Amino acid sequence: MKIAPSVLTADFTNLKAEIHSIKDADIIHIDIMDGNFVPNISFGPAITKQINDVAIPNLDVHLMVLNPLDWITKFAFDKVEFITVHYEANNYLEAIEAIKKHNIKVGLSIKPNTKVSEIKDLLPLVDLVLVMSVEPGFGGQKFMVDSLDKVKELVKLRKELSLNYIIEIDGGINKDTAPLAKEAGVDLAVVGSYLFNQKDRKKTMEDLRWEYCCLFKKYLKK
Ligand code: DX5
Ligand code: ZN
Repeated sequence: MKIAPSVLTADFTNLKAEIHSIKDADIIHIDIMDGNFVPNISFGPAITKQINDVAIPNLDVHLMVLNPLDWITKFAFDKVEFITVHYEANNYLEAIEAIKKHNIKVGLSIKPNTKVSEIKDLLPLVDLVLVMSVEPGFGGQKFMVDSLDKVKELVKLRKELSLNYIIEIDGGINKDTAPLAKEAGVDLAVVGSYLFNQKDRKKTMEDLRWEYCCLFKKYLKK
């Protein structure tokens, strides 16, 4: 399982050093909130450009905004590998087309109350499906276990429909929930507050990537 640190809970007075501390990440998750789609505001294109210019890994931009179509061009920086829009947002189909026009990979996200069956027809259009395991808007919330059933459904559909999308999970990932996500079939796990509360981020990411395998090894030793 790959790890995408979310910089939402990073120390923004020390941004360059914070980004340096996650230089070994698989990709960096960028949470954009507009105060409409979610009851919070984060940061915008200017800060994202600063991160883009100092980051070593590519960026995974998660747009929690009501009108994603207005924002695609503003976030199309050279290291942006994915832009994810919400199925619950306005004009998500047009936004998907706009992302493709920039040669950026497309992500589609669903909030906890949206079922996988609602996006089934859209799956062939996307490179990544982001399952929210908390209500979007804030870091540091408790992982919703129900999200694992959605991951399993997406794994099954990917096989049935012969598709290749990446399955990402976002919210409440820590040392206890990462193994559950990995076991359910998550390819990429977003980790915010848990990671930024640790001093040794390289080791924490390494542990989270391998947690399930280590638990399995412990089991074998018994
Ligand atoms: C929540 C954001 C998440 C958040 C995750 O709306 O989309 O990416 O930063 O933070 P943690 O890992 O603290 O739940
Ligand atoms: Zn996110």
